[in-house]
Parts: sequence; structure tokens; C-alpha cells
Amino acid sequence: MTDSYQIHMRTPHTKQQEFIDSTAKRKIIRAGRRSGKTVGIAILAGQEFLKGRRVLYAAPTIEQVEAFWYEVKMTFAEPTARKALYKNETEHVIERINTQNRLKAKTAWNADTLRGDYADLLILDEWQLMAEDTWDVVGAPMLMDNDGDAVFIYTPPSLHSSGVSKARDPLHAPKMFRKAELDETGRWETFHFASSENPHISVDALTEITHDMSQLSYRQEILAEDIDESWKGLIYKAFDSTVQVLPRFVIPDNWLVYVGHDFGGANPAAIFFAKDITTSDLYAFHEYLPGGGRTPKQHIDSFKDITRGYHVMKRVGGSHQEEEVRLSYSPHGWPIKEPLIRHVLPQIEKVQAFHERGRIFVFEDMFRYLFEKANYSWKLDPQGQPTDEIQDKAKWHLMDAERYILSDLIPVDIVHETSSRIQSFIPMAR
Ligand SMILES: Nc1ncnc2c1ncn2[C@@H]1O[C@H](COP(=O)(O)OP(=O)(O)OP(=O)(O)O)[C@@H](O)[C@H]1O
Ligand SMILES: [Mg+2]
Repeated sequence: MTDSYQIHMRTPHTKQQEFIDSTAKRKIIRAGRRSGKTVGIAILAGQEFLKGRRVLYAAPTIEQVEAFWYEVKMTFAEPTARKALYKNETEHVIERINTQNRLKAKTAWNADTLRGDYADLLILDEWQLMAEDTWDVVGAPMLMDNDGDAVFIYTPPSLHSSGVSKARDPLHAPKMFRKAELDETGRWETFHFASSENPHISVDALTEITHDMSQLSYRQEILAEDIDESWKGLIYKAFDSTVQVLPRFVIPDNWLVYVGHDFGGANPAAIFFAKDITTSDLYAFHEYLPGGGRTPKQHIDSFKDITRGYHVMKRVGGSHQEEEVRLSYSPHGWPIKEPLIRHVLPQIEKVQAFHERGRIFVFEDMFRYLFEKANYSWKLDPQGQPTDEIQDKAKWHLMDAERYILSDLIPVDIVHETSSRIQSFIPMAR
């Protein structure tokens, strides 16, 4: 005789039912905030677990994982209480004992954090906030053995939420959605619904979450529209990460080094560029963000380690008001110059000019730099138009360090600018 247990699942709303019923191997769901994405997918996960499958749910924040876990836990409350299923609260696991049949939830935002599991149904919630490699490098391979299924869930990324994304390309989720829409093989299916299509969320609750949203964010986060326009706020649009991001290589020792500095007790930062002396292209090869608490002498010891064996041509940084900080570096053999251009907007324009000419390359492991580059944006006005103010301007330390040093260089004829100096230092270096 087999024992039977009560399973308590919520009744899906219409839109949830659609993606639960779909038999596509790849599903991508674009839906508004509070529209029922997480609860809906927890219903699907529970059903698939009951069919004997191994389900892995991942989301970049613990809040989402807990929301999902709560649903799952309630669903299987009785069989777990009666020890017919094994449950581990800290690991967020429910398992049919001594089988591969398992349901697990974890926080993951990139390849490394997802690694170490396998599944035959993989769910990536808040996909727009994860790095692309979560899927390419780890997610897809983990499904290969069992020809598993995948579900991607996202809310269109708006500036309202951009700050926490781990994505290199802020539009990777919309791009995947568009590709999925074009698929004619039946492998992919797309789903789209707004927050208001969740009958369980009240008008009051919706008003509460939308009251400080711009019109544009409302269209993205509530109506779940993919609108490229939101990224008209992106400052360095001309930076093409598909071309300009490269695997790391050893910088030849005759290349010249340029360093940008951003001061600040809690978050000092520096960015190191090396210039290829034949092409004059600049390669960002080191990002320095040690956190607070170090003396100028300690910073400089690190700078010297980073640049050992190379000729440092220029060190530039700080605003006009920060002369004192600059002076504190000089006695230790690291003189830093005030930027030639004092104002932020023309400094940014200089960096833009470098990007437009394709003169800046970045090593692919410069994670913080790439993150800042992909998120550094103008504040948008209520109509969604960019202003000339930087969104969260105090938090982009590497962008600050970069504009200081690059505004001191000339993108077009940088060769001419430095050639006389190259000649004068080479004999000395020998
Ligand atoms: N089928 C359902 N039955 C009852 N309540 C539901 C159902 N689906 C969603 N809800 C309720 O609606 C609210 C939002 O659901 P959920 O957390 O799944 O949305 P979400 O789209 O994942 O939200 P967020 O954008 O905040 O991650 C929750 O209070 C949830 O309990
Ligand atoms: Mg959710």
C-alpha cells in the first residue's frame, strides 16, 4: 500500500496557466513587476518535480529565492512534515529520498554562482539582472545530459532598476526575447503580460510601487514593454563590447602606461591604460578599487607593483578642489596632475571620442569597469529624455578615474602628442 499526501498548489491565473501548459523546450517570459512571475513558475516547478524531474530555480537576489521557496515549501508542507520528502531549509532543497528527483532554489547571477549542479528543468528568474554567461557557460551545458528544458523570466530593465544588474549588455534579455519570437522550429515560445494581469494584486498595491516611477519605467516595469529608448540614457553607447572587450594578454614592455585616479577615503579608484605604441590604441589592463583605509604610501606601493617594468607616462586625477590630495602622493614618487579639462561634461566627451574612434580596448576580466561602462547613464526627465546630470553620480569611481586621464589625451593624433616623449625616454630606459 502506498501512502498518499496532500499537495497544496495555487490556482494559476490565466497568464501563468499559458506558460505552465506550454511544451516548448525554451520559454521566455517577459512580465511586469508583481505580475505573478515567481508564483507562476513555482507552480510549474512543483508540477515538474511531481513528474520525477530535477528542477533548479535560480535568481540573483535572495528575496526572489525566498518568494519562490515559500511557495514550494507550502506546496509540499505535508509530505515534508511527514518525512515522505526530504527538506533542507538552508539549502532550499526538497528531494525524493535517494533519487535524482529534486527541487532546488539558489541565488545565482553569473556562471560561477550557478555552477555545481545539474538539472532537467532550469529556471532563471530576474534574467535581466544576471550576467549573460549564467546561461551560455553553465546553464545550457548543465541541461545537455538529459536534454533538459529552460525557462527565462524577466522584467524589461529600466533605469529604475539598472543599478544592480550584473549584465554586461543591459539589453541581453530583450535581445533573447526577440530572437525567440523569430524562432520557427517550436523550440522557443514567448510570453508577455503586464502587472495588472495578475488578478491577485490590488490597485492600491500597484499604485504604491509605481508612484515614483517615470513614464518610461512604468511602461517597462509595469506594462513590461521592451523599449530600447530607455538606454538613450546610456552615456557610452559608442563603446561596443562585442569588439572592444578582449581576452587578457601580457602587455609588451615597451607600451606606455597612463593612469587615471579618483580620490575618496572610502572608495579610491584608479584605472590603468597601456598604449600600443604602433597603433596608439589604449588597453585598459588594470582596475584598482581597494576599498577604504589605506594611506597614500600604501596605494603607491600597489601602483608601483602594477606598473613594474613599464614606463608610466602620465598620472591624472581629481577635481580642481583636490590639489591637497594630489600633493600627498608626490613625496612618494607618484606625482599626479590635475586634469587639463576641469568640467565633467567635456571630460565625458573626450572619453566618448575615444570610443567613437574605437581606440579603447578592455580586458574581459575588468568586471567592475565593464559593469560601470554598461550602466553609466544620464538621469532621465519624467518624459524619458536624458538630462545632463549623471544618474547616481557618486558611484562610478572607475568612470571618474577614466575621464580624468582620457580627457588629458588626444584620441585622433595621440601618436603625435607623445612621439617626442617616447624618443626622449627610450634612451633613458636603456
Ligand atoms: N496564482 C496566484 N494565486 C494567488 N496569489 C498569487 C498568484 N500569483 C501571484 N500571486 C500573488 O501576487 C503577488 C505577486 O506575485 P509574484 O511574487 O509571483 O510576482 P512577481 O512578478 O514575481 O513579482 P516581482 O516583480 O516583485 O518579482 C504575490 O503577493 C503573490 O502571492
Ligand atoms: Mg518575482
